[in-house]
Amino acid sequence: MCGIVGYAGPVDGVDALGVVMEGLRRMEYRGYDSAGIVVQAQGALAARKKAGKLANLEELLSLDPLPLAVTAVGHTRWATHGGPTDENAHPHHSADGRLALVHNGIIENYAALRAQLVDEGASFTSETDTEIAAHLVARAYDEVGDLTEAMRLVANQLQGAFTLLALHADVPGTVVGARRNSPLVVGRGKGANFLGSDVAAFIEHTREAIELGQDQVVTITCDSIEVIDFAGAPATTRAYHVDWDARAAEKGGYPNFMAKEIDEQPRAVADTLLGRMDQRGHLALDELRIDASALRSIDKIVVIGCGTASYAGQVAKYAIEHWCRVPTEVELGSEFRYRDPVVTAKTLVVAISQSGETMDTLMAVRHAREQGAKVLAICNTHGSTIPREADAVLYTHAGPEVAVAATKSFLAQVAACYLLGLYLAQLRGNKFEDEVRAILAQLARVPDQIQQVLNSMEPVRALARQMADARVVLFLGRHVGFPVAMEGALKLKELAYIHAEGFAGGELKHGPIALIEPGLPVFVVVPSPRGRDSLHGKVISNIQEIRARGARTIVIAEEGDDAVRPYADTLIQVPRTPTLLAPLVTTVPLQVFAVELAMAKGHDVDQPRNLAKSVTVE
Ligand code: F6R
Repeated sequence: MCGIVGYAGPVDGVDALGVVMEGLRRMEYRGYDSAGIVVQAQGALAARKKAGKLANLEELLSLDPLPLAVTAVGHTRWATHGGPTDENAHPHHSADGRLALVHNGIIENYAALRAQLVDEGASFTSETDTEIAAHLVARAYDEVGDLTEAMRLVANQLQGAFTLLALHADVPGTVVGARRNSPLVVGRGKGANFLGSDVAAFIEHTREAIELGQDQVVTITCDSIEVIDFAGAPATTRAYHVDWDARAAEKGGYPNFMAKEIDEQPRAVADTLLGRMDQRGHLALDELRIDASALRSIDKIVVIGCGTASYAGQVAKYAIEHWCRVPTEVELGSEFRYRDPVVTAKTLVVAISQSGETMDTLMAVRHAREQGAKVLAICNTHGSTIPREADAVLYTHAGPEVAVAATKSFLAQVAACYLLGLYLAQLRGNKFEDEVRAILAQLARVPDQIQQVLNSMEPVRALARQMADARVVLFLGRHVGFPVAMEGALKLKELAYIHAEGFAGGELKHGPIALIEPGLPVFVVVPSPRGRDSLHGKVISNIQEIRARGARTIVIAEEGDDAVRPYADTLIQVPRTPTLLAPLVTTVPLQVFAVELAMAKGHDVDQPRNLAKSVTVE
């Protein structure tokens, strides 16, 4: 939520404006309510900002250019305090205009601080919480004469979540940042240094990054990076190399990032599965700070996530309980700590997050750790907060996900959940090594099966175009097909702004069947006929019940399942997979359907209205 870019280059270097605008283009997925930039040139600051997408700022800059500069800070906003107007766009300035500041997060004690500043004679031009920070840092600078120290003093006064970056007219060539509960990474360049909400902000210039810890202040110039903690002591940081390059964050000929990311799913799953065996042939996690005996003694697993990540967690529940026989609950990050959950030292909390920065999930992680639970993160973003605070990490290798709606990260999360389930089953002795290997071999075939699904999506696209006027679409599933149904509904809601709901097939007769009326489109995710008990037959009964009431059925079933044919107005076939692994293939047609329908309606599928990627406020 909100994208931030900072740059300090050499005096004879390139124009900072271009570097920061390019960074903002890559950060725009984090928020697109407004954008702004400030440069420092000839002992003064100059800024431009505009409500709406980055294109509006670009237009403004072409009409009213900024002076050449080697230091700049930019911001792309997802509005919290104050509407998406020009006035509320960042950067915000101090009263004398000599300091400019951008912010991601929410300053929770801003009302008290603002009232105090007003009492002292300050006036404000925006409704944001950010503007008070600009006033406070400028005042502190006037008192102590050092921008880093001023930032540190103010950071200690603020409560809530914030990443702040500031430029001061009197401190040329320097950008100062601070972070608490909100992301900020440093890019170490040659003769230039960078700051960004994530590495995509500077990936074109350097792949050498430094992870900042919680409560740290960073000061960059073209040839130095200094980090201290909020107490003023030198801080320890961790340098790392980014294993993808700028091309991975480009559209590469696709009409939008989402279409590209859907096509990248075979790779995302294959890379997530890659290299997981240690020398003894055992499954291994990336970073494990929990000893094996603690993992053997866990008596409950709670999987935490938000939105799509929580649906990956629902799939995990079926797999982990089946393979490991450990009771597993799935909980929304935003609900977890508020219901006083029973969590003990024998509970393993699994936090799933693409960004690793989702505040609801992060707060749940902290609560779980305070209760003594061990936390294992499944995350796609190296250096982000959730894996840093967790006791163990399993990284998904989906590569950068730029489209706001999650696609490849979901499949990679599901694949990682299977790995975790198998890892625990192996460790706790629920499965023999050869059984684990047999399932891994089946998993290894899935990327090709996803590719087969992708190769056969033209009829699904045609169907989506035909259905562009649909007002309501329902999704039904059972067992692991239930979270798939909810994910299909979520994609359609967020991309096409269509009312969509995912139901468990068995629940239909307990209420939702009242929604069925002639012509209503209903997607049904059918389990394999080779699966357990009579689930397949029960889903066929569900289809009959809705068809009897006039629903138009769009059925996703595995190849060779001829029993469903008579009940499907449209049949979408996917390759045969073991029952538990089916979400990796059955989700794909639902993603393709949602994107195509949204495009047919003329929506911006990468940046759906009201949303932002990486939700760093609670
Ligand atoms: C939906 C979507 C969101 C995210 C959710 C969690 O398409 O993208 O529901 O899944 O905001 O985000 P992460 O995984 O970054 O914690």
